[in-house]
Order: sequence, then C-alpha cells, then structure tokens
Amino acid sequence: MFVFRLKGNLISNYFNYFSKKLSVIFENNVKKFCKQLKKTQFRRLKNLKIIMSKINAALTGIHACVPEYILTNEELSTMVDTTDEWIQSRTGIKERHILKGEGKGTSDMGAKALLGLLEKTNTKAEEVDVIICATVTPDMLFPATSNIIAHKAGCINAFAFDLNAACSGFLFALQTGRMYVESGLYKKVVVVGADKMSAIVDYTDRKNCILFGDAGGAVMLEPTTEDYGIIDADLHTDGSGKDFLYQKAGGSVYPPTQKTVANREHYIYQEGQSVFKFAVSRMADVSADMMTKHNINPEELAWLVPHQANLRIIDATARRMGIRKEQVMINIEKYGNTTDATIPLCLYDWESQLKKGDKLILAAFGGGFTWGAIYLKWSYDGSQVKKLI
Ligand SMILES: CC(C)(COP(=O)(O)OP(=O)(O)OC[C@H]1O[C@@H](n2cnc3c(N)ncnc32)[C@H](O)[C@@H]1OP(=O)(O)O)[C@@H](O)C(=O)NCCC(=O)NCCS
Repeated sequence: MFVFRLKGNLISNYFNYFSKKLSVIFENNVKKFCKQLKKTQFRRLKNLKIIMSKINAALTGIHACVPEYILTNEELSTMVDTTDEWIQSRTGIKERHILKGEGKGTSDMGAKALLGLLEKTNTKAEEVDVIICATVTPDMLFPATSNIIAHKAGCINAFAFDLNAACSGFLFALQTGRMYVESGLYKKVVVVGADKMSAIVDYTDRKNCILFGDAGGAVMLEPTTEDYGIIDADLHTDGSGKDFLYQKAGGSVYPPTQKTVANREHYIYQEGQSVFKFAVSRMADVSADMMTKHNINPEELAWLVPHQANLRIIDATARRMGIRKEQVMINIEKYGNTTDATIPLCLYDWESQLKKGDKLILAAFGGGFTWGAIYLKWSYDGSQVKKLI
C-alpha cells in the first residue's frame, strides 16, 4: 500500500480524497496511478511535491492481563469425571486462569492490558485513535466491550468497536487495524484480544470445561516506513461450520428464556472431533502456504505463534511447516484456550526474546469456521522494553 506525503498549500479535503483514492486503487500499481493522476483535477495543482513512501503497520508494543485464580486439572477432576492425565495427554493443558469476582468481565482484562500497553509504549491515553476488541464474550451484547475498555483506560479520543471471528478474532482484528494504519489516517491503533470464557463454559460438561481459560492482551499498531510490521494476511471464513462450535441461545434466533436456560443452551456447544480435524488441516495449510508464498525457509522463521487450542493441533501445524518445536510459542499448559487472547498472550510471554526483524507467522482457527495466518516482521528488541511491576 502506498500513501503520498504532500508538500504545498493543500486543502485537507484534497488530502482525504487523495488518501481514499490511493488505498482503493493503487495498491500494487503505482504506474497506473500516475497515469490516472494526470487525468484528475490534481493535475491543476501547481508546486505539488509528492514524496512516495510505503507505510507499514508495525507492532510497537504488547501487554497482557491474566487473572490471578488458577483452576488446575486436579481441581477440575473434583468437579467432573476427568483426570489430569487425560487432559494433559489429549490437550496439553495443565491449568487455566479464571476471572473471579462479581461484576467482573472481559473489559476488565482488556482495560488492564491496554493500560499496561500505554505505560510500556509511553503513550498518553488521549493519543489512541482506534481500539478494536476481538472477543466472543463481550461484557454485554451492547454497547461494545471496546467502548467500555476505552472508557476505563481514558482513551477519550478513540473510536472503538468489537469484532467477532471466534478464536481467529485477534488475527481478523489485527488485519483490520493494519488497514487503518496503512491508510495513513490513523497513527495509534490498539488491537485487544480478550475473553472471559468461564462465563460461557458449562462446568458440568467434561468435554469442554477442561479446555478454556480467561485472559486479555493488547498490541499497539503504528505506522513505519521501515521494512517491519505486518507483511501479509490470509484470512478465511466458512459458515457451513457453524453447527460444530457455537453458543446456541442468547442471540436473536434464540433469545434467552427460562427454557433456554434450563436446557443449558447459553454454554459452549462443541463437536470436538470435527473441530479437531478441521483445525489440523486448515491451520497447517494456511501457515505452510504463507511460508511458500514469501519464500521463507523453515530455518529463517523465528517463531510460529499459533492459537492455543490443543497441543496436538499445534504440533501438527509445526510439522507441516517443517519447523522445530523450539520455533513455536507454546503456553497452552499454563492458560488453556483463552480464545481471542491466546496469540497476544504468547507474544507477551515471549516479548523479551523477540528481536527486531524476526519473522513471525501468527496462525489461528475457530468457530464459524474461521481460520487464517498473518506474516509479520517484528519491529523492536523485546529485551529493551521496560518491565512493569
Ligand atoms: C475436545 C477434545 C480434547 C476431545 O478429545 P478426543 O480425543 O477427540 O476425545 P473424544 O471426544 O473422542 O472422547 C474420547 C473419550 O473420552 C471421553 N472424554 C471426553 N472428555 C473427557 C474428559 N475431560 N475426561 C475424561 N474423559 C473424557 C469421552 O466421553 C469419550 O469416551 P467414550 O469413548 O467412552 O465415549 C478434542 O476433540 C479437541 O481438542 N478438539 C478440538 C477442540 C478445539 O480446538 N476447540 C477450540 C476451537 S478454537
């Protein structure tokens, strides 16, 4: 994507018109643009100096919030008929964190992650332009959780909205945020991934309650003309998968009634094996394709950052990409599946090891079905980042 910095006495209307034209028409074809430029009214503008520079959206900071309470496999085995051995061997999970306390929701974790992010990146709350929150467990159906997060963090100048793409939500939100930055219109875009999965988990259902945990993470996206940031994204949706992983009641098709509550239809429903098969093939394919498309050798890749749903799915993806286990961020044993928070939580846990220029592939899949991969070049040395107490 290209934008132009204009020198001269320009009216802001021209600039807006210009930016929109650019983002729509001229992504890969500057020559064509120059031809068109001659035909437009801009031709008449004298002394117009155009300096072309490619703007990338770079991740310039990361922070996360993990609630204190730890729900171990041992404790779960006192609640449902399961064992630590079964859970670990089938999923890789040892424990997960749960947000306790009346009136606490997803926005509390999102806001905490955002406040930490502002501190780490020396950003004033008022400087944030946009907040996008990926979540499947909003505080309430409306207003948007991002709205509440913005308020809690004091981001009075930001506009904010939620995005739901199930467990792929963080990637979809990152790609959306990237577009805002690359358009040249917004300078500080925050992408939050946060979920209080414990709010929709049925703790009498042993097939599902072992899988999920609560957390929130936030990243800052900012423009750079250097060769860092988000390079490519390949995102997909297939609505025929909706019956395999969903929350039946509570929306407009089945609004909450005494019957839906009695039938436990406000909890996650999942056909685990179907989701498993789908996830293994799609997440592995899209990640391997991304490497091929950008000629990335397995040894060149610094990190695969996969959605943390099941260790076996992560291992299969790494094998398909031809990379070693040491190149994969895995923290599923500590947190379980925190849905939209898994990827920022990995980046947060590994931040001090990330180096400027590292090539990363972020990959996810989720209900819907949704899946995708993002290729990015890391933009700072994580070892230099100040630690928050
Ligand atoms: C959920 C999942 C771990 C189940 O593992 P699985 O190997 O497919 O297990 P199955 O569902 O086939 O169940 C096998 C047996 O274990 C039993 N079982 C299920 N959960 C159990 C538990 N927590 N403890 C002990 N036994 C359990 C089942 O009842 C079944 O017993 P049966 O053969 O007597 O009927 C696995 O399917 C999975 O990870 N799927 C993908 C889920 C996912 O990634 N979701 C998130 C998408 S973003």
